[in-house]
Amino acid sequence: MNSLRGVGYSLDTAVADLVDNSISAGAVHIEIDFDWNRGEPVMTILDDGAGIGSDQMIEALRFGGAGPQAARASSDLGRFGLGLKTASLSQCRRLTVASKAGDQRNIMAWDVDHVNGAGGRWEILENEYSGPAPALEKLKSRASGTLVLWEKVDFGREEDKPSRGAFLRDLELLHFHLEMVFQRFLDGDARRIVISLNGTPLKGWDPFLRSYESTIPSPEQPLRAPGGLIKVQGFILPHRDRFKTDSDFEKGGGPEGWNAQQGFYVYRAKRLLIAGGWLGLGRGRAWTRDEPSRLARIRVDITNAADKDWRIDVRKSTARPPDAVRPELQRIAEDVRKRAREVFVHRGAYGPRMKSQVVSKIWDVKSIDMGSRYFIRRDHELVDVVRKRLGANGQMLDTLLGLIERTVPIERVWLDVTEHGPPSGAEDASADEAELIGQAVAIVRTFHKAGIPFEEAVPMISRMDPFDRIADLKTKLDRHFRVRNRT
Ligand SMILES: Nc1ncnc2c1ncn2[C@@H]1O[C@H](COP(=O)(O)OP(=O)(O)O)[C@@H](O)[C@H]1O
Ligand SMILES: [Mg+2]
Repeated sequence: MNSLRGVGYSLDTAVADLVDNSISAGAVHIEIDFDWNRGEPVMTILDDGAGIGSDQMIEALRFGGAGPQAARASSDLGRFGLGLKTASLSQCRRLTVASKAGDQRNIMAWDVDHVNGAGGRWEILENEYSGPAPALEKLKSRASGTLVLWEKVDFGREEDKPSRGAFLRDLELLHFHLEMVFQRFLDGDARRIVISLNGTPLKGWDPFLRSYESTIPSPEQPLRAPGGLIKVQGFILPHRDRFKTDSDFEKGGGPEGWNAQQGFYVYRAKRLLIAGGWLGLGRGRAWTRDEPSRLARIRVDITNAADKDWRIDVRKSTARPPDAVRPELQRIAEDVRKRAREVFVHRGAYGPRMKSQVVSKIWDVKSIDMGSRYFIRRDHELVDVVRKRLGANGQMLDTLLGLIERTVPIERVWLDVTEHGPPSGAEDASADEAELIGQAVAIVRTFHKAGIPFEEAVPMISRMDPFDRIADLKTKLDRHFRVRNRT
């Protein structure tokens, strides 16, 4: 028992494992409550599921009760017959289960200190309930249900006790974790359930941000895999520019942030097992989570019949795709990653808004054997105008552009982006826009000198990267020149 306490659960994965049990028991309402209790935290999780009958109670508390070989309903989220015990005792030293199934009521507890003190005899304590009374009353008032109580919560640590502040932060993380793991239940994509944490109902967090119209889904693909059919669907998430506020953008990243949460999301019976990462796929060496691929997320649906082939672990936080599907997953992931990288580098200019007009970019990227080279388009409208203005000296411009192309500081840019993330521009969008308009004004003037009138110049500039991102550029330029003409 002491050894099993250390199999590596976190608070998040431990609580999620108990929620699994409630869902498997058919519960509709699951209430989780943590009480700081002046530094001696207590947790209760109360459900209205089928409950545990008297004849199954000991079995439920036995380590490895219904083990991995037992046949299970397709909606059963359990597997090893360990979760209730190991998840709980990873976080606390006393686990009490009170359950009601019709007129059968039972209360049993594992107390680590008692077992240790009893010379290691596996003694279960019966009918000893020392938790909060209201939770037990609520259970009694129901036809059936189960109450799991954690006392002597030490989070698996000996001396290192969290402060109240740290405890509250952990609860916030737990909140977000559960909203992610059980999103499909909370949103009614699986059997709808209601979960509350300290009285606050959880809202599902969709890793694929399907409510954003600029999210690009690929068609769902069924794949034949050992352990049964799986379903795979890729999503390219919206570029940062597409989020209304910084906090929307942060929220979209997920509990671990944009970089960490790219990659595969593996759901087992609609319960999330893995939130991101590339499952060891990649050509040559395994892909790492890199900045440019951070808009790529891929959903994989497996059933609980595939547990062995996917090597599900006790904590339900790892899984490995069977060898037979790896090539196909690799192919799908390559495609999603590639398209996600395009959205990432073209900023928001990919997807619905772009379809109706072609944006004129000054940089041209050409693939060569060992990567890419970057060229300045000689037929870009501004380059063209400037060259014409230079007349016989037009060659000078090409000399300059040629030098710029040969000295693009690729390594430097790459290093900066890897270290500090991409330049966002979102923080001071208005200052950025004022600068851009200033530049657009300068181009209007240049065009003017080349004999291109304002009416022709403006549509050209509005199609030019990066001015295409300015809403109502024409009005803004109009205003600028009208004000100047008046003064
Ligand atoms: N909330 C609950 N409601 C009803 N039965 C439960 C609940 N929690 C646990 N059980 C019973 O206890 C058994 C053991 O649970 P657990 O140790 O988590 O293993 P597993 O979920 O892998 O079967 C479950 O199979 C189930 O029969
Ligand atoms: Mg379980």
